[in-house]
Amino acid sequence: MRLNFYKFAAHLEVMIDQIKNYIKEAEAFTSEKLDEVEAFRIKFLGKKGILNEFFAEFKNVPNEQKKEFGQSINQLKQTAQAKVDELKLKIESQKDEAGIYGDLTRSAQPSEIGARHPISIVKNQIIEIFANIGFNVSEGPEIEDDWHNFTALNLPEYHPARDMQDTFFIQTNPEDILLRTHTSSVQVRYMENNQPPIRTISPGRVFRNEDISARSHCIFHQVEGLYIDKNVSFADLKQTLLYFTKQLFGKSKIRLRPSYFPFTEPSAEVDIYWGLETETDYRITKGTGWLEIMGCGMVDPNVLKNCNIDPNTYSGFAFGMGIERIAMLLYQIGDIRMFYENDLRFLKQFKSVV
Ligand code: PHE
Repeated sequence: MRLNFYKFAAHLEVMIDQIKNYIKEAEAFTSEKLDEVEAFRIKFLGKKGILNEFFAEFKNVPNEQKKEFGQSINQLKQTAQAKVDELKLKIESQKDEAGIYGDLTRSAQPSEIGARHPISIVKNQIIEIFANIGFNVSEGPEIEDDWHNFTALNLPEYHPARDMQDTFFIQTNPEDILLRTHTSSVQVRYMENNQPPIRTISPGRVFRNEDISARSHCIFHQVEGLYIDKNVSFADLKQTLLYFTKQLFGKSKIRLRPSYFPFTEPSAEVDIYWGLETETDYRITKGTGWLEIMGCGMVDPNVLKNCNIDPNTYSGFAFGMGIERIAMLLYQIGDIRMFYENDLRFLKQFKSVV
């Protein structure tokens, strides 16, 4: 554009006015749509945009007016750029607020897959093994009364397990409401509500007032089993447990040592022959090769009577084991406290187990 000085001066006035109008336009512009903001950017800041047109005029502006002209186009540039930045930021942050549904095309966040807790893994294995021979699963409350936890199970009033040392009482006067010390309480409830044949296992959390150490804890888990029918014998008990230990540990030798439980008669402790192949085997079996894994026995007729089952017609067996102890054996875990610390380095190791 070649204009004589006077004409150009008038032209410059017009241009500066135009620039001022564009600044106003840029300031007033708003949009929540990315393509509209982009169109705005191209109109003002694009290669063939308004700003570049004005910049192209710059060389024609007489020196004394270069400053004023330059300042106005810079102001326009800054205003337009700030507007683009502001609106883009706003649109982006709205997208984030909309969460994963804001933009269905964006790539997925990598999310780590968790692992089942070893106690759940072992509990599920035990349930499955017994389910295969017809046992169902029964559950009951963790807060129990004296009847279901002790009295119905033939625990005489002077039995040491009722001592405050072992039981967490919730109500102490009279000592009636407590945290169950074993899941035998669930078996009592089951017998009260079902007539034989009964085949049930009761997994669950139990509580005992014990010092916490590497080997014992005040909270742990049990699975107890109950089988009641006509003509159930001690041989049935032994074969059932043998089947179980073969399935769970792959060990086919067990022995039953005479023991005492108030709710079973006769009672026994079950040992499995673990073997003496490695140094660890020596350590965990104290050099004997045998490991105690549960308690069991024939249900005491008094218990059947307490639960309205006729002991002259029916007999049955019961057994109970600690899940932590079994998980410690299966996974060679040396400290029971690991189960409750929720340390990811420990829990992650069970990822591959279903
Ligand atoms: N209830 C017993 C315990 O908690 C285990 C057990 C169950 C023993 C059934 C014999 C029969 O130690």
